[in-house]
Amino acid sequence: MSGFGIYVHWPFCAAKCPYCDFNSHVRTAIDEDGWVDGIVSELEWTAKNQTARPPVETIFFGGGTPSLMSGKAVGAAIDKIARLWRMANDVEITLESNPASADATRFRDYRASGVTRVSLGVQALNDKDLKMLGRLHDVAEAKTALGMAMDTFERVSLDLIYARPEQTPEEWRMELKEALSFGTDHLSLYQLTIEPATPFATLARTGSLKPLDDDNAATLYEITQEMTEAAGRPAYEISNHAKPGEESRHNLLYWRYGAYAGVGPGAHGRLDIGGKRIATMAEKLPERWQQAVSRRGHGIVEQSEVANDDAAHEHLLMNLRLAEGIDLAAYAARWNTTPDMVRVAELSEQGFLKTENGRLIATPQGRLVLNRLIAEIAA
Ligand SMILES: C[S@@+](CC[C@H](N)C(=O)[O-])C[C@H]1O[C@@H](n2cnc3c(N)ncnc32)[C@H](O)[C@@H]1O
Ligand code: SF4
Repeated sequence: MSGFGIYVHWPFCAAKCPYCDFNSHVRTAIDEDGWVDGIVSELEWTAKNQTARPPVETIFFGGGTPSLMSGKAVGAAIDKIARLWRMANDVEITLESNPASADATRFRDYRASGVTRVSLGVQALNDKDLKMLGRLHDVAEAKTALGMAMDTFERVSLDLIYARPEQTPEEWRMELKEALSFGTDHLSLYQLTIEPATPFATLARTGSLKPLDDDNAATLYEITQEMTEAAGRPAYEISNHAKPGEESRHNLLYWRYGAYAGVGPGAHGRLDIGGKRIATMAEKLPERWQQAVSRRGHGIVEQSEVANDDAAHEHLLMNLRLAEGIDLAAYAARWNTTPDMVRVAELSEQGFLKTENGRLIATPQGRLVLNRLIAEIAA
């Protein structure tokens, strides 16, 4: 087993970025105390729902934009968790932060509340592309925010979105070189995805936005693998790169198919209760979630047992995202099934998979087409 973590979703943003399909909403006035009361109620319900409460190894405040929360609000959620569960001594507590709402005093408050790690959404290192991405910050503000984060926290990660329209390999090399020069031990480098039902999807359909084609995007992906590896921050997951030992433990927990509780609007959970794998999903719309929480103490709209085959499939899909791959014996013991080893052999021949010391690993090429690989090898 891979430990237990708690995800807390803060669903608000100052503006909606046109590429984003996260559960994030813009509201003119936010009653922070009311939302924190809702989170606290849902934490209480979650703790009651778990028959055995494992120690909390990681907490992740994601969004939306959790850096719009005050230190007091973040502290209230952490204190509640510490009262309801045992906390591991070296608990990792990450907060996602947007450069436009980054503030030195607030960063210090987060740290005083127990936050140990900040992940900063820089997205691009040129003003033209930041504007194209609809971001509220410019490069200068992103650098100031990064400096503040690195002054306050030992563990800082930065996010960039690459494979942007018209981005050339040379431009990406320069930009990634600069990003690596900041010296953060962790970087999340995502290829721009045109998500359905976003303004970018409409622009792509009408031809006003021309997504980078697959070949060029693959070239930028290869550059990303090479440069991060040379800088001592190799990919440990499709889009995540870290100095060994500095991986996001919370995200590793997801990818190793550990157990986690999801709290807040739209949050998902995977809990182990009474020997069963239980999936939970909360009401997405913040106001509806809040109404549900005040009525019955939680906003969970679905709680169901994950069938063995589905859980095995999820485990394979999550674990193969990681460069370390999956321990085949542990997988077989847990789910009483194995991948289709004949297809595994064929796909290994083609360079998409490899087996090393009992672990099945997707190569960097394989990780790019993971969903298709899983569909072929799942038993
Ligand atoms: C919840 S956001 C991070 C925190 C904050 N909301 C922000 O944007 O700065 C998570 C990350 O997902 C990435 N992301 C969101 N939508 C994306 C898309 N369509 N394509 C690629 N990356 C995306 C961005 O890099 C973003 O930083
Ligand atoms: S700030 Fe982050 S979560 Fe909010 S809309 Fe933009 S990318 Fe999405």
